[in-house]
Amino acid sequence: MRRKTINIMRLELEAKSVNESFSRQTVSAFTAQLSPALDELADIRCAVSEAVTNCVVHAYGSSGGTIYITVKLFSDRSVRVTVKDKGCGIEDVELARRPLYTTDKTGERGGMGFAIMDSFCDSLRVTSKPGRGTDIIMNKKLRPLPSERAVSDGDADNDTDAAPEDDSCRKTNTRSTGD
Ligand SMILES: Nc1ncnc2c1ncn2[C@@H]1O[C@H](COP(=O)(O)OP(=O)(O)O)[C@@H](O)[C@H]1O
Ligand SMILES: [Mg+2]
Repeated sequence: MRRKTINIMRLELEAKSVNESFSRQTVSAFTAQLSPALDELADIRCAVSEAVTNCVVHAYGSSGGTIYITVKLFSDRSVRVTVKDKGCGIEDVELARRPLYTTDKTGERGGMGFAIMDSFCDSLRVTSKPGRGTDIIMNKKLRPLPSERAVSDGDADNDTDAAPEDDSCRKTNTRSTGD
């Protein structure tokens, strides 16, 4: 059966570091309607943080610009988060995606942003045009709800991992998030 889009959120915001935590929380709050488990929501938050931080730090730098975030929720419990910018773009996407690769000269970045997005999502697509901008598409399929699992495996006694609507993030996100 083809999956259906059940809800869409679109957000446009200034590429400022103060908006990193806001965008993470907003995506998280929107995704909460699918009742994800705590670890799933933490994964999405961290991946979004990394993508948004890259827009702030790399795409626009001090000149600023707009970040475009779209979240789509699907009937099969998949979540698709798109983070776009119209900044400087990436010359070599394959190279940029390698763990520890960074063009940062300040020593503040560890070159692990894409690796984190990759590991916290089921799939990550990065398309970029130098001078035009970058599109990041992250897909994550949430596990079935405990009630659905109970139907499929006969175990109804497993309702302990639904996520509270907080803003916790995994320790692997090493950026300063201000929360
Ligand atoms: N949105 C973007 N616009 C321009 N360049 C980017 C963008 N995202 C990532 N990059 C480039 O890819 C590199 C790797 O990104 P990442 O893995 O997040 O590591 P880090 O941010 O620590 O440098 C960055 O150093 C930068 O050169
Ligand atoms: Mg980064």
